[in-house]
Amino acid sequence: MGIFRWLDERLDLVRAKRDLLDREVPDRLTWWHTLGSATLTVFLVQVITGTVLATYYSASPDHAYESIQYMEREVASGALLRGVHHWGASAMVILILAHMIRVFSVGAYKYPREINWVLGVGLFLMVMGFSFTGYLLPWDQKAYWATAVGTNIAGTTPVLGAALVALLRGGSELGAATLARFYAFHVLWLPLLLTMLVALHIIVVVRQGIAARPRDLETGAPPTTKDPQYPGYYRQAYAASKRGGLRFWPDILGKDAIVSAATVLLILLLAAAFGAPLEGPADPTDTAYVPRPEWYFLPIYQLLKLVPGSFEAVIAVGVPTILLIVLVGLPFFDRGSRRNLLHRPLALAGLAVLLAGSGFLIGAAGRAPETPVDDSANLTSVQRAGRSLYQSQQCAGCHLIAGHGGESGPDLTTVGLRHSAGWMHSFLESPARFHEESRMPAYGPPTLSHQEIEELAQYLATLRGRDGATATPQFYDTFPPPRRP
Ligand code: HEC
Repeated sequence: MGIFRWLDERLDLVRAKRDLLDREVPDRLTWWHTLGSATLTVFLVQVITGTVLATYYSASPDHAYESIQYMEREVASGALLRGVHHWGASAMVILILAHMIRVFSVGAYKYPREINWVLGVGLFLMVMGFSFTGYLLPWDQKAYWATAVGTNIAGTTPVLGAALVALLRGGSELGAATLARFYAFHVLWLPLLLTMLVALHIIVVVRQGIAARPRDLETGAPPTTKDPQYPGYYRQAYAASKRGGLRFWPDILGKDAIVSAATVLLILLLAAAFGAPLEGPADPTDTAYVPRPEWYFLPIYQLLKLVPGSFEAVIAVGVPTILLIVLVGLPFFDRGSRRNLLHRPLALAGLAVLLAGSGFLIGAAGRAPETPVDDSANLTSVQRAGRSLYQSQQCAGCHLIAGHGGESGPDLTTVGLRHSAGWMHSFLESPARFHEESRMPAYGPPTLSHQEIEELAQYLATLRGRDGATATPQFYDTFPPPRRP
């Protein structure tokens, strides 16, 4: 007790407790109100697990993968720790999205909480930034190729594209400079910025109090929050909403603690059961790899597949930009005083379209196998000649096209999306130049003439899978150095 009194005299603990914990809060706060604090809890979990992971991690292309493998195999609980960090990342995205949807649904971004909504949008962007930068760090196949695709998409931005790619990759290629940059953002810039924003976000919540339920802030309200009467109305309605005498502690914090604990437990279970994925080490020459982005980037990824090539840049950059403008601008142009989602038809429709659209696109991306079909009716005579060579040379003994053929070589169903005809010509001529241990036979003269190889290459370039008509090729052609005489 003596110590407490000593501290209290200096830090005024009793008053701090009264101001923070004993605050009265509005009646009937729901379990949905716990999503924000659960997001914060998971962030703390990420900070702790991330700090330990950083102790073992080496941010260079030569050692990153090995250091992760070492962690998985040799470090006590290393695999579990990586698992927690991996599942925690998904949990954070889900929780912050759910939190935003709740705040949106009860109109809690309206007067007087406009600033905190904008801070929240900033936090959401940072969480996405964490995902994007964290993805590359293991330097496995998935990491490398997903980032290649992601940075390529940024490159389609009109005017700024090339500069953006250089900024993200630290050069034109994806390599050591990229990894250093992503790592610094992941462990220094973003945590610092996020911590500052979170602190502001919470300070504002404490100062403004938790939003009361919509009904308490709607009945008898002036029609818009622009109305000069509105602030007065709001103050009264908010004060009245606290009539039940609930306190921040234990009424709110108690629920928060239960949901946070359950979330952490779930993450632990997922981590223990599934761990974190690790594919083979990144191989920039393995162009047969079909990259798939993390689930929360799937809607935009799938959307890109649905639009014709010339629209791609518009969608890739335009859709996120418009969404961002709408999110930031929301509290400033939506000035109606109605808060319940059911009383705001436009907001309800907007949310429904966004959720249904994203759900549909994620579903479509999940179902779309990288299979496809050859629509040979439209082939030119050169391409048709290539197709008969493909048959007569027994390429199908080793390669699949749309499920037909052998499996000892890569599936060629969508090879036309991965490689240019020029690259395929050189490759068919002498695969060993591209890949020393290639098990693919060389078809250069005398086996086939240059003319025939070109026909084959032209045919292969048409193999673009089922939605090939709309898909845009992403070539990852790397050529070997010129042959020494
Ligand atoms: C003996 C098996 C075998 C035969 C026959 C074969 N390939 Fe291959 N092919 C492979 C293997 C294995 C690879 C993987 C790359 C490597 O090992 O260099 C490959 C790679 C390829 C690639 C590159 C695919 C990519 O995504 O990078 C193309 C294109 C290709 N083969 C076309 C053909 C064509 C056309 C024929 C027939 C003229 C053919 N292959 C015959 C085994 C074969």
